[in-house]
Amino acid sequence: METVVSGIRSTGKLHLGNYYGAIQNFVKMQHEYNCYFFIADLHSLTTHPTSADLHGNVKQVLVEYLAAGIDPEKATIYVQSDVPEIAELYLYLNMNAYLGELERSTSFKDKVRAHPDNVNAGLLTYPVLMAADIMIHKATKVPVGKDQEQHLEMARTFANRFNRLYNKDYFPEPYAFNFSANLVKIPGLDGKGKMGKSEGEANAVYLSDPPEVIRKKVMRAVTDSGPTAENQEKPVEIQNLFELMKVVSPAGTYAHFDLLYNTCQIRYGDLKKQLAEDMIVAAAPIRERIKEIDQDSSYLRQVARHGAIKARESASKTIREVREIIGFRSF
Ligand code: TYM
Repeated sequence: METVVSGIRSTGKLHLGNYYGAIQNFVKMQHEYNCYFFIADLHSLTTHPTSADLHGNVKQVLVEYLAAGIDPEKATIYVQSDVPEIAELYLYLNMNAYLGELERSTSFKDKVRAHPDNVNAGLLTYPVLMAADIMIHKATKVPVGKDQEQHLEMARTFANRFNRLYNKDYFPEPYAFNFSANLVKIPGLDGKGKMGKSEGEANAVYLSDPPEVIRKKVMRAVTDSGPTAENQEKPVEIQNLFELMKVVSPAGTYAHFDLLYNTCQIRYGDLKKQLAEDMIVAAAPIRERIKEIDQDSSYLRQVARHGAIKARESASKTIREVREIIGFRSF
């Protein structure tokens, strides 16, 4: 059976982008593959969280994974820092990761632009740690959103380079995966790029947002003054709202508003009201389960411990073999 690995950074609440870009696939894949889903708390250290925030954020993602339907009996759910073998593999891979290729990564360049005062080495080698996450279980499929595509390409480079260096066909090539074939990019509500945690609270709709918050955010989304000619191309902020509708609403609803737009009869207020209600319906069951699971500390402890044991079984096997291949042998 093929092995699947994916993770989400522990930097706060999960939003619809995380859900439709990644988690929805996790939930489907757990029935068909050998799945490892983790909480990337080592990755979140690039932004220097306080220890209280770090722990709270890890808990939040764990709760939301379970609430979204990841089943710890089917998939292995674990916290990245509970598996020290990942950090060890990261060290080995760093020896064969080159400054030029790391500096060319789009996400690194974006981070440098956004936070020029915090360009740390962890940020530069972020794709190497991500490759270690995947390679530690020798995974071939990685369910992620479109923004992670380049990181997967780098992971393939590191896997192939290791194999070449040691002249051994050890690590398989990992590929980004989505059940719909195309990788997903969920837009935000600010009329610009993707929905994201670092793009500001109002840009993202969170799985834990109560209905009134979702309504308020959607009603405030950026729009223009409306189409002036039939079948006019939609400007990006309007296209974004339609993209969101495509994800959360029934096909008939999308077609209805698309026709209104194309015949210049659209009222954005109506479109937003409908979009907000459909988002509320999509998030409601998850939100209810988040509230329940959040209270259950003993269940969360049990899931995290059980997951760490299972993940370390697989990770320690890989590290044992990698050490042997590299040439670390005991006397
Ligand atoms: P992160 O935490 O930024 O996002 C987690 C997952 O959600 C997806 N995603 C989106 N998909 C579509 N539209 C959006 N607007 C959107 N926003 C987020 C991301 O593509 C991702 O799949 N580096 C990773 C975490 C990671 C990882 C890994 C993933 C660490 N190691 C190993 C896979 C395998 C990240 O920062 O994702």
